[in-house]
Amino acid sequence: MSEPEPRNGKIIEWVDRRTGLNTIMKVALKEPIPGGARWAYIFGSGLIFTFMLQAITGIFLTLYYSPSADHAYTTVSYITKEVTSGSLIRSIHAYGSSAMVIILILHLTQTFLFGSYKGRRELLWLSGTVLFSLILGMAFTGYLLPWDQNAYFATTVGTNVAGEVPIVGDWIKRLMRGGNDMGTLTISRFFSLHVLFIPAMIAIFVSLHVYLFRKAGAAGPYAADPVEPNLPEESFYPRQLLMDVAFAAVLIAVLAGLARFSPADLGPRANPADTQYLGRPEWYYRSVFQWLKYWNPPYTIIGVLVIPAVVGALFVGLPFYDRRKERRPWKRPVAVFVFLFILGGLIYIGRASYVEDQNNPGVRDQILQQEKETERLMSQPFEPELAGVAKAAPVAISPAAERGKAIFERMACGACHGEGGTGGLALKLAGIGARFPNEKLTELLRKPTPKMLEGGMSPSPLKDPELKDLAEYLTSLKPF
Ligand code: HEC
Repeated sequence: MSEPEPRNGKIIEWVDRRTGLNTIMKVALKEPIPGGARWAYIFGSGLIFTFMLQAITGIFLTLYYSPSADHAYTTVSYITKEVTSGSLIRSIHAYGSSAMVIILILHLTQTFLFGSYKGRRELLWLSGTVLFSLILGMAFTGYLLPWDQNAYFATTVGTNVAGEVPIVGDWIKRLMRGGNDMGTLTISRFFSLHVLFIPAMIAIFVSLHVYLFRKAGAAGPYAADPVEPNLPEESFYPRQLLMDVAFAAVLIAVLAGLARFSPADLGPRANPADTQYLGRPEWYYRSVFQWLKYWNPPYTIIGVLVIPAVVGALFVGLPFYDRRKERRPWKRPVAVFVFLFILGGLIYIGRASYVEDQNNPGVRDQILQQEKETERLMSQPFEPELAGVAKAAPVAISPAAERGKAIFERMACGACHGEGGTGGLALKLAGIGARFPNEKLTELLRKPTPKMLEGGMSPSPLKDPELKDLAEYLTSLKPF
């Protein structure tokens, strides 16, 4: 009952006795791979690796990011231009999202071509399809957060698509946006999804996915039987682990290189009033963007709902209707053809979107001009938000104040009080509204105090309406 507690240097044993860590590590590393380690199997762990990379860089970004329409753009600009390594971290995060989508496609393609979804792996496949949509959800929600023109317009298009769905579409669109228009509520919804809800779901589904994978066992090469591979086994450690680590190292090198030599940029601040701007989504949503252009009312619903639903059902249901044990791709011509047709179609349509932009001179020039503007902005120093000071200066004033301003100038009040009431300490009029209400001011101008008289101000000869306008102008002068 009372085992002697280990002493000096036996911490690992102590931890193992309480947690079973050694056993867990053994189970993890000794995972049997029928037919041995292969480069084809690196993509699953590559996805876990990029997900962790996104989580870590993402946490650093949240240290500076502020999820509101007022500040999101400025804080991202601050990260890009001022924060130490900010541009590097942000760029790795931005390229990391593309990397994740690419590896996701490779993982899916490998699983499909190897027929690794066969043989009692329905739930494993289902959890994978959930992860697939969660990752696309991460890409969609993250793209809005910098709140620049592209982010704004691409997400406007994206949420409009949801609005096309019959009956519930408008409701979904408003739910996503937090109202009819895009603004701070949209950003906080997307932010919450991007940093809390979707990552938590990904963590849960990755655990489930890995658990189901270990439960079913690795499927091995495509020549093997999916249930009883009957092949000599090699354990995950060391060769497969080394391959996975090598892949992670290559990923890090490529992402860091891209981030260093071609940093992610930030376009002009979102401006809903700019009707000239041509927003474009990230490359992986380009085919969806283009696809929508092909469908016009009354057929929109076919392109937006019917065809995607059919393809989605084919995709999700795959292991339920494709029950043959045959895994070799050349013995499954129909399945492989449909898969490559859809993948190739998406690539073709995506490419068509770029070609179309290039072939339309108006569009090409506009996009070129936008790129130049982005480049110019990127070369500018960081511009902070000026609280109070800058915002107070260009206040729009009322018509009455406008007339008062003319009187102020005509009566040469500025000779003593300075232009716009900005004169020296005692003579400064800006901010006077905080001390005197309008009635008090007109009274003062009509019957100046002895001090004012002494200083050379004479009782005002102006009539009431004019005095009122003048007082209106004086109170509109904000402190500097
Ligand atoms: C000859 C110089 C001169 C001119 C011209 C002049 N003022 Fe003045 N104004 C003064 C002086 C001096 C004071 C008293 C400052 C103090 O109380 O310390 C004063 C005070 C004021 C005050 C009260 C400020 C306070 O803080 O109590 C108001 C309001 C004002 N002036 C408005 C006007 C307007 C409006 C005009 C143009 C119609 C005008 N002044 C033209 C010299 C001038």
